[in-house]
Amino acid sequence: MVDTKKKSPISIANFSHDGEFVRKGRVILKIYTFAFMVKIGNIELPDFSLLLAPMEDVSDPPFRLLCKKHGADLMYTEFISSEGLIRDAFKSRQKLDIFEVERPIGIQIFGGDIEAMGQAAEIVEAANPDLIDINFGCPVKKVVCKGGGAAILQDIPKMVRLTEQIVKSTKLPVTVKTRLGWDEKSKHIVDVAERLQDIGIKALSIHGRTRVQMYKGDADWTLIGEVKNNPRMKIPIFGNGDIDSPEKAKLYKERYGVDGIMIGRASIGHPWVFEEVKHFLKTGLHLPAPTIEQRVEACKFHLRESIKWKGQTLGIAEMRRHYTNYFKGYPNIKEYRLKMVTLDNPQDIEEVLNEVMVKYQGFSSVETQNFAS
Ligand SMILES: Cc1cc2nc3c(=O)[nH]c(=O)nc-3n(C[C@H](O)[C@H](O)[C@H](O)COP(=O)(O)O)c2cc1C
Repeated sequence: MVDTKKKSPISIANFSHDGEFVRKGRVILKIYTFAFMVKIGNIELPDFSLLLAPMEDVSDPPFRLLCKKHGADLMYTEFISSEGLIRDAFKSRQKLDIFEVERPIGIQIFGGDIEAMGQAAEIVEAANPDLIDINFGCPVKKVVCKGGGAAILQDIPKMVRLTEQIVKSTKLPVTVKTRLGWDEKSKHIVDVAERLQDIGIKALSIHGRTRVQMYKGDADWTLIGEVKNNPRMKIPIFGNGDIDSPEKAKLYKERYGVDGIMIGRASIGHPWVFEEVKHFLKTGLHLPAPTIEQRVEACKFHLRESIKWKGQTLGIAEMRRHYTNYFKGYPNIKEYRLKMVTLDNPQDIEEVLNEVMVKYQGFSSVETQNFAS
């Protein structure tokens, strides 16, 4: 018998899984996993990373903090206008707020003017994120009609020049988030990915829709898989679009071989999604659905953090859109939401949340299998 008490375990980094004990000769080695398989420049991420998608008016610091607590490996700010940053607009500047606890974190910028985007990258670098992400995917008219977001998918040479300008303007790793193409006839993502890699981007996130599709239909991951499995591609490829259950995350991981997935809508009101997916991938089992206490606690935390960051008036106003998300599937939750959206005082809102907790005590019909339902 090996006397484990006398011999202290030897830890070996970069080796195996989760502090598992293995026997080697007469010594028991405690081997830890720090198998950092995904690298974006010098940023090390766990194997099969889970990313929080950039989402306008959603992925602000209070929400990001919740997602971080629940297992997001890499997060992004919502997109920030390059023109706004250059004009020094308060709203754009405020979106640069990032916190140590959030790292690694990327700041995302958008715009159609190459020089302005280069200048914006310099401003972003001063905010000290871990990386800069370029938005080449936003489909909304007000962005596209100014040549920003997905508009650039109609002019790939410009997309390449713009990206090159940003890569040259910063020492930070530059990543890109884009779509398959502008429309059905121009799904050039396989070629685009190679060209962007060649000019120095360090990772690519692909939303499996075209601009013309907006958010309609199902995301098509076939081309995402083709990009990932292109032998020319060396940078991490993250798939995005419609991941709304641990099963789907596992299926797409296995089917398309991506380096990680980016989750957007399924995290809204459900920041537990990251740990739920991780647990399922590791064990094949579902974590229990968050209890009403946990939902109320998360909602209160979100409210308090919003007030801390935005001030009471704005913090309360902007929280109004989130209440029902935390209680999806709970019958008659609307009646409580109606109360909460008319209140201006945080204590009163928390009182209503306490009522919600009492009312739905032990209510168990909400399942997590489909958190975005
Ligand atoms: C409310 C909302 C805001 C979004 N804002 C951004 C954004 O600022 N930047 C961006 O690249 N994509 C943005 N997106 C797109 C998401 O990042 C993501 O690509 C899309 O929702 C598909 O992923 P999902 O099916 O996991 O939600 C937004 C999506 C939503 C729903």
